[in-house]
Amino acid sequence: MSKITAAITGVAGYVPEHIVTNAELEKLVNTSDEWIMSRTGIKERRRIQKGWAASDMAAAAVRDLLVKTKTDACEIDLMICATVTGDMKFPDTATLTCHKIGANNAFGYDLAAACSGFLFALQTGAQFIMAGTYKKVVVVGVDVMSTITDYTDRTTCILFGDGCGAVMLEPNTEGLGVQDAILRSDGGGANWLHMKAGGSLHPPSHETVDKKMHYLFQEGRPVFKAAVNGMSSTMKALMERNQLTINDISWITPHQANKRIISAVADFSGAPMEKIMVNIHKYGNTTAGTIPICLWEYEPQLKKGDNVILTAFGGGFTWGSLLLKWAY
Ligand code: UT7
Repeated sequence: MSKITAAITGVAGYVPEHIVTNAELEKLVNTSDEWIMSRTGIKERRRIQKGWAASDMAAAAVRDLLVKTKTDACEIDLMICATVTGDMKFPDTATLTCHKIGANNAFGYDLAAACSGFLFALQTGAQFIMAGTYKKVVVVGVDVMSTITDYTDRTTCILFGDGCGAVMLEPNTEGLGVQDAILRSDGGGANWLHMKAGGSLHPPSHETVDKKMHYLFQEGRPVFKAAVNGMSSTMKALMERNQLTINDISWITPHQANKRIISAVADFSGAPMEKIMVNIHKYGNTTAGTIPICLWEYEPQLKKGDNVILTAFGGGFTWGSLLLKWAY
């Protein structure tokens, strides 16, 4: 019997219609389009509509995914939702999304690994397919960063946006799909990138709200350095372990946190920018959403058999790289 691999058989996404331009942010904080573009490469980002939450964006993306893959919602076995901005503490966003789309035979759960969440969730979902346990696993990356962004802090409010991407994972016997991954976590990075309150360490109180502890905090420079190192080193190790050179790689899909980080990772790998998926100028950093949104946008250019490396770095610290053979 041939080995079962976990192939991505479809990809879809959802980004809110409301665009927040750099000019709008210039009215809120002391910044400029020139600074934002030259330091980050971000031109605009999206903001979710009133009354919507993470599961609404996830449901919109997954409905589209079901149409594209000709799947009935009742056929889904499992949904894993990578997010750090779920609708509420519980129920989890995957469970709420399953309900919204009518996935009545599925179970679901959330996975929190910040900007590396989609990679961690994809690797997790792939194991269930490879083991033969499930036939249809939906992996979602969704974040509503506008809800934890302090729009008086110029160092962070220019970076983040809202968005969602989703993929379908199914068994494959041609050796296509997820091949290998190197994933890492190091809680020692928590000092540089975190949201202090809302958990068991600092439960919500008047004091935590007054002290702005429910907003994302980031010390940009150390995170920048660690991101370049973490993404580059795991990509290199992954290629070596699979006896691949950069010439064998058709596409690199980097987490979209900063255009300068993306360029540094490209330089390190020796890949020309034509091989690097980039859409940070349109959406900013959507945390767990960036990689599946990139795959969704670049889908028409991907070909069956293409080697694709997904690479990410985020709060935790969490980071890693995953090698895929595109399946369609
Ligand atoms: O996705 C999770 C992982 N996150 C990341 O990978 C993000 C990593 N970090 C970064 O992308 C960059 O560090 C930032 C974009 C956050 C900041 O860029 P930087 O080139 O590292 O700037 P900096 O923090 O060193 O600040 C340089 C100067 C400072 O002014 P002084 O102290 O030199 O007078 C900042 O106050 O730029 C100032 N600055 C701004 N000026 C205009 C910071 N933010 C802004 C702003 N507009 N929005």
